[in-house]
Amino acid sequence: MNSLVDPLPGDSPRFSLHDFAPAQESFEDAVVEGLSGPRKSVPARFLYDEAGSRLFDCICELPEYYPTRTELKILTDKADEIGASIGPDIALLEFGAGSSQKARLLLDALERPAAYEPIDVSREHLIRLADEIADAYPGLAVRAICADYTQPLELPDSEPRRRRAGFFPGSTIGNLTSAEARAFLSGWAGQLGRDGLMVVGVALRAPSSIVLPAYDDAQGVTARFTANVLVRANRELGADFDVAAFRHTPTYDETTGRLTIHLTSLKAQTVHLAGRRFDFAEGEQLHVEESNKYAAEDFQALARSAGYVAETVWIDPGELFSVHVLRVA
Ligand code: AVJ
Repeated sequence: MNSLVDPLPGDSPRFSLHDFAPAQESFEDAVVEGLSGPRKSVPARFLYDEAGSRLFDCICELPEYYPTRTELKILTDKADEIGASIGPDIALLEFGAGSSQKARLLLDALERPAAYEPIDVSREHLIRLADEIADAYPGLAVRAICADYTQPLELPDSEPRRRRAGFFPGSTIGNLTSAEARAFLSGWAGQLGRDGLMVVGVALRAPSSIVLPAYDDAQGVTARFTANVLVRANRELGADFDVAAFRHTPTYDETTGRLTIHLTSLKAQTVHLAGRRFDFAEGEQLHVEESNKYAAEDFQALARSAGYVAETVWIDPGELFSVHVLRVA
């Protein structure tokens, strides 16, 4: 690992960068592989190029899209209780350099937070976030970790050693299948060690009449967000997807909480990409996203099976979102 003390030449070292040089995954390889099997798919992480990230920000403002604002409200309203449950002198390890808004709500709620450690594959996002937090919290140790948090890694040492709390907000865990979510949680239980904590934001299993519109908004922003992966493939890979011939198709099973988003081919068509051809039948589906919802007790059971004690969960009055504090067993 290459550890840079001063990531901003000329500036004072306000945070450290711990660069694990994560391999930049090839979009082309991922699309070719995803289109080659009998059930076509594109990994959801490729939705977030610049245009996709901007569309996601628009989604968060939509009247139908409740997860972001509901989580923020819980983190705001229950800050004292959440902070007390986590305890003092903690190093906060955030999975993904998300919005500094959520990290700040948590840091503000904590008693004498010792460190903030965001992990992200994007060096650029990571540095921006680390910089914002270092700016806002003078005296807080900020260690930016450039790495893929789905892979095991050796966390930087700190002196004195602090108890760590992982922070995985935004119901991003819902992008994983439940088997993948369990693997993620149990992998980090080992890394966080005894007394380690995990703070996870999870969208709750809720009625279809509420959940589905959040992924099928009236203005069609979510449809554009989904289709953007095809637009991106056309632009970056020279593919020839007929974007208008695919329909954004969210489906939700209210009893299991499984939400999936596909692009449905509206006609029989052939797409060319990387010197290959891929045939779509009329009605054939291309899987682009999972956004699984969990009943609070089901998520706690999953956490227990991954080596945690489910300590506390906070839920909004409308029962749409949950913030869990888990302790490594
Ligand atoms: C960022 C993964 C939490 O699943 O709600 C929003 C992404 N996709 N609308 C979610 C998303 C379509 C979002 N996460």
